[in-house]
Order: sequence, then structure tokens, then C-alpha cells
Amino acid sequence: KSSGLGLEIVGTINKLQDVFTTVGSNSTQIDLPQICVLGSQSSGKSSVLENIVGRDFLPRGSGIVTRRPLVLQLINRPATSAASAPATNGATPQPNGTEKAADKGANPDEWGEFLHLPGEKFHDFNKIRDEIVRDTEAKTGRNAGISPQPINLRIFSPNVLTLTLVDLPGITKVPVGDQPKDIEKQIRDMLFKYISKPACIILAVTAANQDLANSEGLKMAREVDPEGNRTIGVLTKVDLMDAGTDVVDILAGRIIPLRLGYVPVVNRGQRDIDTNRPIAYALEKEKEFFENHPSYRGKANYCGTPFLAYKLNSILKLHIHNTLPDIKARITQQLQRYTAELQSLGGPLGDNSANLVLSVITEFTTEFRTIIDGNTNDLAVNEL
Ligand code: GDP
Ligand code: NA
Ligand code: MG
Repeated sequence: KSSGLGLEIVGTINKLQDVFTTVGSNSTQIDLPQICVLGSQSSGKSSVLENIVGRDFLPRGSGIVTRRPLVLQLINRPATSAASAPATNGATPQPNGTEKAADKGANPDEWGEFLHLPGEKFHDFNKIRDEIVRDTEAKTGRNAGISPQPINLRIFSPNVLTLTLVDLPGITKVPVGDQPKDIEKQIRDMLFKYISKPACIILAVTAANQDLANSEGLKMAREVDPEGNRTIGVLTKVDLMDAGTDVVDILAGRIIPLRLGYVPVVNRGQRDIDTNRPIAYALEKEKEFFENHPSYRGKANYCGTPFLAYKLNSILKLHIHNTLPDIKARITQQLQRYTAELQSLGGPLGDNSANLVLSVITEFTTEFRTIIDGNTNDLAVNEL
């Protein structure tokens, strides 16, 4: 099936990233595109990510819930079991599996795997959440401690776009619990490590019921991306705005203009979380909200989670396209170095991991050569 340039190349990049993670020490040498959420504590970062994925599995709630970075690789994998419906229909991928996402129990074609628990498949997404909580507490204690040590989770599903997303702890100012006095600096340093990478696409999350001018996420994003080439504004809690107010001026770029614009969303509120409202319910509510609201109904297609996912995918394609020459140069360098190393080890019978890296790189260079030399006209900026 032809899904355009983006999905194939992102799949290859995920594969590369996987191999480098497994092999270890070389992982820092190639900066691969990732999407990070950035914003104040409880602005709705985890909720936004969960809606994009279309499955319930992230710890969410008021207070500091996300206390370690979660590197989340979504991998689109066609359904193989008869029980499962076909993944997508047609050229435009569906951003999330709204229909079958929540209620129908375990899907044999959808599972998660943690890097720290190799080979263990989690088909029950509640167990994924439990494991995130368990491993967070194991590394940071129970009393609001934070740690820069990431949790690596991969989700295989026919219902996701192939993307790498990073859920990050929120920016906070005042220490609570076991947090050290310099908690703000520690969190900022951790966040900067992720968002400074030129290959990081930033979802700057701000609650719409707060003043945009005070958005910590936007401020930090501007420090690392002053031109706004890789920052998307996400406005959460649009449903909690005072009656008679809306985000129309923000969307129109009249408050703090962002090159890539803003997307307003409505996530589940705390009561929805407490009563286990499924994601399908959340997305349906969100759709209704924008379609019926007098300020948004004329532009409901440009509001909400599905549009955010679509926009992300387009931006990611463009971004990868723009970074290909650089990645190509680095990989060629590595390829030469590995080839030389392999030769010094007496040919291709050397160390296993080096062989693995070599074969993936070879596959990668072949694939992107096709892309660089091929037709890239599906990358029109107006698609964004
Ligand atoms: P994070 O700390 O930024 O990751 O935020 P969470 O996703 O954990 O959400 C924090 C709290 O805000 C939770 O109680 C959510 O239910 C609530 N919340 C997040 N987004 C929205 C939204 O769009 N509308 C409403 N009503 N509540 C939201
Ligand atoms: Na929170
Ligand atoms: Mg969170």
C-alpha cells in the first residue's frame, strides 16, 4: 500500500533508533526526530499524548504524576489476526483508533513492550500503566521525586501512526514532597536535554484557561526554537474556559504568533479519569464540543485531536525530509567506520551487534536514497 513518503521513512528511522538503543554507546550519534510534550505541570501533556495514541495507558491526574521521561515509540503494524479490523482505509492514515480503542478488551494485534522487560508483551493497557507507575516509583520513590532516567516503551498497533513521542515531567516552580530545593532547575535541565535537539518537534502545551503570556512551555520552546520551526502550540482545557471567552484570537495568531500554529483540544477531565471514561468517549465529546461551539463550529475540522495528529504527521514528514541530508552524511560516516572496523575484525564475521548495525544502515541508506532521488512533491507546506 502506498502511504506517501512519511510513514515508510519514519518506520525505518524507528528501526534504526531501536538498534542504536540496543547496541548502546552509538545512540547519541544520530539525532532522530521525536515529538516531545512541554508545559507546566497538569497542563494536560499526558492526556494529549494518550489521545494521539488512542489508548488509555498513561498515568494522568492532578499534581506531579509524570516523574520520568517516557520515550514512547508507536509502531504501525498491520493486523494479522482475523479478529482484528483492517488498520486504515485509503491514503490518509487515521490518526487514532477511536472505534475499537477503548472498550473491547485485549486486541491480539496491539501490545506494548518495555525496554527494561525485553520479550514481555503487554496486551492489557492498564498493566502498561501499572508498570509505568511501578518502575517510576522504583527509581524515584513515592514522594514526588523525579528522575531523568527515561522509561522506554514501544506500542505495536494497526491503529497508530508510526511516531516517537516523549512524555515529559511538567515545569514546576515550588518543591513538594521529597523534591530538592532546586527542583525547577533540575526539571528544566532535563527538559532542555530533549527539546534542544534540532530533531525534536515540540508540542508546547498550555491550558486555555490560563494566560498564554505566562505559558512556561511556550517560553522554554522559544529559547530552543526562536524561529518557531519545530514548535506546535496545543491549547488544552478549552472546555474549562469562562463562558463568552474562546481561543479564536490565539488561533488566528493575534496573541503570540507561532509559525506552525495552535491546535485547541479537549481532553478528559479529572472526573472522567476517576470514572474510567474510555478514550472513544473522550474523542466523541471533543468532536461534539468543537462542532457545536459557536466560536469553533465553522472551523471544527481544524480543532481537536484528529487534526493535531494529522498536523503532526505532516510536520514530521517535512521535518524528516529537511534533515535527510544531514542524517545521510552522518550515516555514510558511520557506515565507513563500521566497514573499516569489520574489515579489521577479519571481515563480516565479526561482532554481532556491529553486523546488525551495518545491515540496518545499509537498508536505511538504500531506502532514503530512493526518497532523496525520488519524487517528494507530497511535501507541500500548505498541507500543514
Ligand atoms: P500533565 O501533568 O500535563 O501530564 O497533565 P495530565 O494529562 O496528567 O492532566 C492533568 C489534569 O488535567 C487531569 O486531571 C486531567 O483530567 C485534566 N485535564 C487535562 N486536559 C484537560 C481538558 O482538556 N479538559 C479538562 N476538563 N480537563 C483536562
Ligand atoms: Na499532572
Ligand atoms: Mg503528565
